Amino acid sequence: MIKDIVDFYYFSGTGNTLLVVKKMRDVFTQEGIQVDLHKIEDSNPEDMDLNHTIGLGFPIAEMSTYNFVWKFIKALPETTLTTEIFMVDTLAGFSGGMVGPLREILKKKGYFPIGAKEIVMPANIFYVPDKDTCQEKVEKGLENAEKYAQDIIHGRSKWGRVPVLSDAMYYASITGLKLTETNLNQKLLRLETDEEECNKCGICYKLCPVDNITMEDEEYPKHDFNCEYCLRCTSFCPRGAISCPVNYKGKTYHAVKAKEFLK
Ligand SMILES: Cc1cc2nc3c(=O)[nH]c(=O)nc-3n(C[C@H](O)[C@H](O)[C@H](O)COP(=O)(O)O)c2cc1C
Repeated sequence: MIKDIVDFYYFSGTGNTLLVVKKMRDVFTQEGIQVDLHKIEDSNPEDMDLNHTIGLGFPIAEMSTYNFVWKFIKALPETTLTTEIFMVDTLAGFSGGMVGPLREILKKKGYFPIGAKEIVMPANIFYVPDKDTCQEKVEKGLENAEKYAQDIIHGRSKWGRVPVLSDAMYYASITGLKLTETNLNQKLLRLETDEEECNKCGICYKLCPVDNITMEDEEYPKHDFNCEYCLRCTSFCPRGAISCPVNYKGKTYHAVKAKEFLK
């Protein structure tokens, strides 16, 4: 049985992970377990209460996850309380198996891994499916999230080691090697604001989890070279003014409203 308080730390770029995390919270709550949601981008690992069960939720990016999410995970405090921990990631189809290395990192810190699950949701990059396909995938993903939460509650969940590419991904994750973060890609795949379309509403600036977008008074948003490609800025821009050069026909995706993520 898990503890009756769960602190669920999550990051979600375009809403898939948030939907999954909220579905799991609802299932836990129905079973009398209190769940507090914490945005990773606003949380300090040092403030964690290690007497609670800890949840981690994040999207797969480049067969790993975003570097700032890794940074958070690597900064989790060591525990002597065998703090229970579970994880969920959302992905479009192939994760590369980061679940295994993550388990090792957490075990070394003294945590007790009780469950890991990868949940397929619509792709938010390269090829965004049509609306009906997205809806089907979301429904199926949320069914899986519900089942996973039940499995955690009833002690049926497992955190196995997925061997595919794990060691390579572990290396890539630890060293922060991400194609999108190379200087070349920061230039080639640059997310930029089209000043003719932009109405300076500032939503992109408020949404960026890594403060890569700045806006001086009355100026257009400026994108720096530290983008992690979570795609929030392009996905939620109400004017479609931020182009995403990697998305098929520039089609963007979001599963929730921007207000869920506004600072
Ligand atoms: C930069 C980037 C890289 C991605 N890489 C992968 C990947 O390697 N494998 C995969 O299955 N999905 C990949 N995806 C798709 C997302 O993992 C998937 O759509 C996820 O559910 C998005 O979650 P979010 O809406 O919470 O951000 C990637 C998405 C982005 C933006």
